[in-house]
Amino acid sequence: MKVSQRGQVPPFEVMQIVEEVARLRAAGHDVISLCVGEPGGGAPSAVNELASRLHGEDADFGYTATAGLQATREALAAHYSRTYGVEVPAKNFVMTTGSSGAFQLAFLAAFDAGDKVALARPGYPAYANILGALGLEVIDIPTGPAQRFQPSVELLEQAWAEHGRFEGLIIASPNNPTGTMFSARELEELSSWCVKHQVRMISDEIYHGIEFVPDRRGHTSWEFTDSSIVVSSFSKYWGMTGWRLGWMIVPDQLLPTVDALASNLALCAPAPAQRAVIAAFEPQSIAEAQRRVEEFARTRELVLAHLDKLGIEQAAPADGAFYLYGKLSEPLLEHFGSAGQFCRAVLDTAFVALTPGGDFDPFEGQHFIRLSFAAGYDRVAQALDRVDTVIRRSLPIS
Ligand SMILES: Cc1ncc(COP(=O)(O)O)c(C=O)c1O
Repeated sequence: MKVSQRGQVPPFEVMQIVEEVARLRAAGHDVISLCVGEPGGGAPSAVNELASRLHGEDADFGYTATAGLQATREALAAHYSRTYGVEVPAKNFVMTTGSSGAFQLAFLAAFDAGDKVALARPGYPAYANILGALGLEVIDIPTGPAQRFQPSVELLEQAWAEHGRFEGLIIASPNNPTGTMFSARELEELSSWCVKHQVRMISDEIYHGIEFVPDRRGHTSWEFTDSSIVVSSFSKYWGMTGWRLGWMIVPDQLLPTVDALASNLALCAPAPAQRAVIAAFEPQSIAEAQRRVEEFARTRELVLAHLDKLGIEQAAPADGAFYLYGKLSEPLLEHFGSAGQFCRAVLDTAFVALTPGGDFDPFEGQHFIRLSFAAGYDRVAQALDRVDTVIRRSLPIS
């Protein structure tokens, strides 16, 4: 029987590493996992308390309205007013199964098969993989440290000249794998360019709140244009990856289409999570999330001060999220052959799991590694020493 061509998306290399970590741990090894983008510590305590109370009350967790519970959408609208000073009507919020669920809806609602959508490389691999499965063409915008790994109006103009019209642009600030962010001016310029060229901007804002540089605060694209689609979730800042709750901000023009698609694809987002996250906006929950961000900031400083211990010679300045994306030194690449082989050796001999850059950049990623410092200061400090030992053993002293 037939297997679809469109389903032949590349698997995440990182998931193979995750399996290997589980295998090594089961065999009794103390593995430090710096490979996945998952903050430890779980949801804010008020969210957990509300969830247990709701479950204890035998609450009715039937389907919600497709776009989500009114109270949750109103809480999000208030959050946007407080955080960004932008008034987004509750009707424009659509609750989704993580931001991952929002991508399918956004791409299906905004684009037709065969349309072109631009995105920066390196980037979160699901964008290109989902676009590919839906029959859309990816317009690749290569970026490097000189562009701080982010697209700019200049790069969009170049892509437009080279590939002709494209219908969409996907951006992420902070970005995964690099953590770099746009300034307000840069985001405004990109937004205006998209409006002028009638290009639908999809802004992935999932790492908002995890920010380290005062003049690179997270800005939502809705501060600049209400024709963009915002995608975000409770996974990262609130540490709620497995709750599978995200949201979109949908322009008026697309609301009926998104609602019809969502009612066919998912019926609704998880009801218990929609009810419990109302507590995520309480001051105590925000304070808990902020304490985690302070720990990320301390760990980020540690990593940036010890790039040599990771064999990294060129790295992006992570303004937010909890990643470091860096290029391995030439001697290391020569010795190991690729970032993939380096990560393999580090996992096998030092029990530290890093991610090779191939998932994020199929062309140049084999020279880069991504480290997630969400594991916490002490574990990351230990990992740095372990990786350093592997490097010293592998390279002759110069
Ligand atoms: C940039 C980016 N967007 C979206 C997601 C998906 O997250 P979720 O579906 O948990 O909201 C991730 C997960 O790591 C991510 O890094």
